[in-house]
Amino acid sequence: MTKEEALLAVAKRIAECERCKYYPDQNPVPGEGNPDAQIMFIGEAPGAKENETGRPFVGAAGKFLEEMLNSIGLERQDVFIANIIKYQPPGNRDPLPEEIRFQLPFLLKQIAIIKPKLICFLGRHSMSAFLSDQGTISQIHGQLIRKDNQWYLPLYHPAAALYNGGMRQTLLDDFQKIPEYMDRISAESLT
Ligand code: URA
Repeated sequence: MTKEEALLAVAKRIAECERCKYYPDQNPVPGEGNPDAQIMFIGEAPGAKENETGRPFVGAAGKFLEEMLNSIGLERQDVFIANIIKYQPPGNRDPLPEEIRFQLPFLLKQIAIIKPKLICFLGRHSMSAFLSDQGTISQIHGQLIRKDNQWYLPLYHPAAALYNGGMRQTLLDDFQKIPEYMDRISAESLT
C-alpha cells in the first residue's frame, strides 16, 4: 500500500466513525497535503468553512497560515495539514478531553504514515496532547523540542494571533525559524 492509499484508508475510517460526529450528516475533515511531507501542521478542530468543504484551514486562519508558508518558500501542497479533532465541535467550542482521547489515534496513524521530520503544533490544544509535560504554549512557543525521537515546534494558533498584534508578530517570528530548524534536524540525522 502506498502512503497515499494508507492516508485514504484513514480518511475512510474517519468518515465512517459515527461516534466522532456531532450530528448525523456532518462532514469529516481528515486533513490533507503531501503524503511525503517533511513538515506537518496540526491544528485544533475544523470550523464552519472546514465543515462545509471537508478541508482543513480554509478560512481566515488558513489564509494566514498559507501566507506564512509562502514567506518561508513553501506552498500548502508541500506540507500536510491536519487537526486533532476531525469534526467541527458544536458552536465551535473547544474539544473536550475525551473527544481528543477518542480521536487522537486517527492523527497518530496519519503521523505514522507520513513520518514528518517536524511536527508544528498550531495552538495549545494540539500541543498539550503531545507535550503537556514541557510547559504552556506561552512558555515554549518557537522552541524546537525533541521527544521520543520526534521533533516538535509549538506555535501560537493563527486564528488567535490573527487579530492580536503582539501574538501575530511572535507567530510570524517563530515561523521564520522553521528553515533553520529543518537544517538542524537534517544535520542531526546525519550524525
Ligand atoms: N482552526 C483549526 O484549528 N483547524 C482548522 O482546520 C481551521 C481552523
